[in-house]
Amino acid sequence: MNRIVAVLLLLLAGASAQAAGLDAFLARHWADPLPPQGEPPPGYSPLEARLDPEACAACHRAQWEAWKGSRHARAMGPGVLGQLLTFAPEAAAACRRCHAPLAEQDPAAGPAAERLQRQGLVCAACHVRAHVRYGPPPRRDPDARGPVGSSGPHGGFVATPAFEQSAFCSVCHQFGPDGYALEGKPLENTVEEWRTSDWAAKGVQCQGCHMPEREHLWRGIHDPDTVARAVTVDVDFQEASARRVRATITVRNTGTGHHFPTYVTPKVFLRAVLVDAAGRALGETLQEAVIGREVTPDLSAEVYDTRIPAGEAFAALYDAPRPAGVAALQVWLTVDPDHFYRRFFESLLPQMPDGEPQTLIALALDETRRAPFDVLRRQIPLPPPAAPGGD
Ligand code: HEC
Ligand code: HEC
Ligand code: HEC
Ligand code: HEC
Ligand code: HEC
Repeated sequence: MNRIVAVLLLLLAGASAQAAGLDAFLARHWADPLPPQGEPPPGYSPLEARLDPEACAACHRAQWEAWKGSRHARAMGPGVLGQLLTFAPEAAAACRRCHAPLAEQDPAAGPAAERLQRQGLVCAACHVRAHVRYGPPPRRDPDARGPVGSSGPHGGFVATPAFEQSAFCSVCHQFGPDGYALEGKPLENTVEEWRTSDWAAKGVQCQGCHMPEREHLWRGIHDPDTVARAVTVDVDFQEASARRVRATITVRNTGTGHHFPTYVTPKVFLRAVLVDAAGRALGETLQEAVIGREVTPDLSAEVYDTRIPAGEAFAALYDAPRPAGVAALQVWLTVDPDHFYRRFFESLLPQMPDGEPQTLIALALDETRRAPFDVLRRQIPLPPPAAPGGD
């Protein structure tokens, strides 16, 4: 009995020492600001000394192919850069913290740094400190790869389980206790939302959904297939008489490890319309409900929050008179990933100085206009009208 307690205490001590080790590693790894890498070690070839993603691509082709199509590679897109060009250095540095965090991406360090800044969240920002590579423990063959100091490329690497944990993503995807909040909820609360979900209880980390098989794709709200897997939609008819159609439409967050959607920037429109046998919309029967967190453009107040926490559901009532020739109820989601930013860029554009800032914000605005897409479109044949006089 005493032995069991002792073993338990040891296990607990082991677990908390591991957690403390992880916290200490992450605090160092994501120091604010990140210190410059310094001089490369004497044995490094010019290729090994480089920090740009194309240098890594020479040997890590698969990660580079995936990364360059990801939002992380576009983290210094026109909407961010257009603003940064008009900011004082200190304000721009605060944004670079998440969008281009290396000291070697500070444009004050010269033209090479200014080019690297434009590449956004580069490989080295997550993987390289003082020219040493850090990564997750090798998956298949733990002995196949050299530890740091070995003779392999870039002198080996340091393996740490921190890369496999949600905590690795926190520095940019979770505001701390001092971070900006409305109604007691931080504007960025993704890791907290995850921590209190069943996914966390089951041990599914951010990487489990956003980097399956360690792929560097980070697909999210901008990707139709990812959103289609995020939720399930059910339709339950209360009435389908000759006069009216009434149905409860339920959207359940079955595949997202946090609120659907997690940020204040996207909006998801649940839409339904009555259609004829050819699928044509009939009369004024289009109805919609909004899923999202609406804040005022100046971020001073929350207007509403209808986001769906992980495992929970959102229900809307469809209720319309039944026009002649109706065959089905069509239901779908329209996803507007940059809903907030479109309005924001619209109001920002007239204030932008001529030249590159204005061109970039115009480009960013155009991208937000082209971003919306439809998913999960279904046609549910209407049950025949109930017999007249029936209840
Ligand atoms: C000359 C080839 C070469 C270049 C250039 C190179 N690497 Fe590597 N890297 C390797 C090899 C070989 C390994 C050993 C692991 C393996 O077999 O994949 C490795 C291992 C790693 C690991 C550890 C993988 C793990 O399992 O945790 C990381 C992370 C990494 N490199 C990142 C980078 C980054 C970031 C760059 C660019 C800044 C880079 N490497 C440039 C060849 C290279
Ligand atoms: C946002 C941070 C981030 C960026 C940017 C990033 N990685 Fe990674 N990388 C990770 C994480 C996290 C893992 C571990 C994922 C896991 O274990 O599920 C990883 C894993 C790896 C591995 C080990 C893969 C394996 O199969 O074992 C290599 C190699 C690697 N990254 C190289 C790169 C290269 C090259 C780039 C740029 C083209 C890059 N990474 C960009 C976070 C990042
Ligand atoms: C704590 C990390 C963090 C900081 C600091 C930060 N951002 Fe972001 N930013 C994010 C994340 C995460 C997203 C993606 C989430 C989303 O789409 O809303 C994002 C998205 C954006 C976008 C929309 C995507 C795009 O490429 O157009 C813009 C614009 C933007 N940020 C600008 C800024 C500016 C300007 C600053 C500095 C005032 C800043 N950010 C500071 C994390 C951060
Ligand atoms: C169970 C799978 C799953 C887990 C775990 C998960 N996500 Fe997601 N995530 C999704 C899906 C699906 C979407 C697309 C739907 C959406 O936007 O909610 C998404 C969307 C996102 C977005 C897009 C922005 C937005 O407003 O929704 C970000 C950023 C994100 N996830 C970050 C994270 C981070 C950080 C973690 C870890 C704390 C995490 N995710 C854990 C499945 C997951
Ligand atoms: C250094 C900061 C940083 C780290 C670390 C980081 N991210 Fe991001 N992430 C960002 C920024 C900034 C964006 C928005 C890029 C943009 O659109 O401008 C983003 C975008 C995303 C998106 C895309 C959402 C969409 O709009 O569809 C997902 C998903 C995501 N990150 C997941 C992760 C996961 C999972 C991790 C941890 C393995 C992680 N990120 C680590 C800064 C970071």
